[in-house]
Amino acid sequence: MKTPRSAVSYDSIPDFGALYDSVPAYGTRGDITFYTQLAKDSGGPVLELGCGTGRISLSIARAGVPITGIDGSREMLARLEAKLAAESPAVRERVTYHHGDASNFDLGKTFPLVIAPFRVLQQLTTLDEQLGCVMSVVRHLAPGGQFVFDVFNPHFAMFVRDRSAEAEDTPVFMLPDGRTLRRTARIPRVNYVDQLSETELIYYITAAGQAEPQRYVQRFDMKWYLRAELVHLLARAGLTVRDVRGDFDASPLTDQSNEQIFFAVKNA
Ligand SMILES: C[S@@+](CC[C@H](N)C(=O)[O-])C[C@H]1O[C@@H](n2cnc3c(N)ncnc32)[C@H](O)[C@@H]1O
Repeated sequence: MKTPRSAVSYDSIPDFGALYDSVPAYGTRGDITFYTQLAKDSGGPVLELGCGTGRISLSIARAGVPITGIDGSREMLARLEAKLAAESPAVRERVTYHHGDASNFDLGKTFPLVIAPFRVLQQLTTLDEQLGCVMSVVRHLAPGGQFVFDVFNPHFAMFVRDRSAEAEDTPVFMLPDGRTLRRTARIPRVNYVDQLSETELIYYITAAGQAEPQRYVQRFDMKWYLRAELVHLLARAGLTVRDVRGDFDASPLTDQSNEQIFFAVKNA
């Protein structure tokens, strides 16, 4: 299968999965506990769209719930494979993964819970991709099944601020293999018509004894959604939104919330 356009940036930097897993901010999101509890409550098995390196799926498998992951990036899946090798046979057995496209997939089975953690839907930037994704999700949901995912809550004051200059988001630190990593981010442009933030995450990696770092740029577009448009999109596929929360601690969605967490149920 060809790598989906929206996953190409994850394959553009060597050994990207290891870099992704080392970013401290990704380790401190409250989403691992949140999705793991949902998985346990569902009884499983769970389908995760954009499972990446298994940041969430391994926690779910360790909690005793079988999980199937789909991801478009071979680098991210290679990292998941390497991490699985260090897990117990019981955990390994609970994890199945496929190189696939979240905007069009057919696994020929259904699940009581489908999840898309850490803004995976924001990587699907066209209407065709978004509709293809939610239609695929509905085909994979058991009767009464739930689709739960998060996207960021757009803060408009931030969009109008010029963020085109590189700003450090991760100060320098040492990777497990002795190299150092520092990361900056910039938004060269916000495209309001299509609701996209053009995004660059810039990784500076210095090997031991090297004077100058290697500079790698991960470029991708992030679609930002308003609550109502997702309610309408999901309805087109036969899903009813039963709740939207503003953070992983279940706080209500307000203008200040960082997240929009959708709980959608397959219509009878
Ligand atoms: C921000 S990462 C999240 C990974 C994982 N869910 C987590 O929470 O750590 C987004 C993931 O979505 C994947 N992705 C992007 N577009 C995709 C697509 N069309 N189909 C499948 N995976 C996709 C990327 O390869 C990447 O692994």
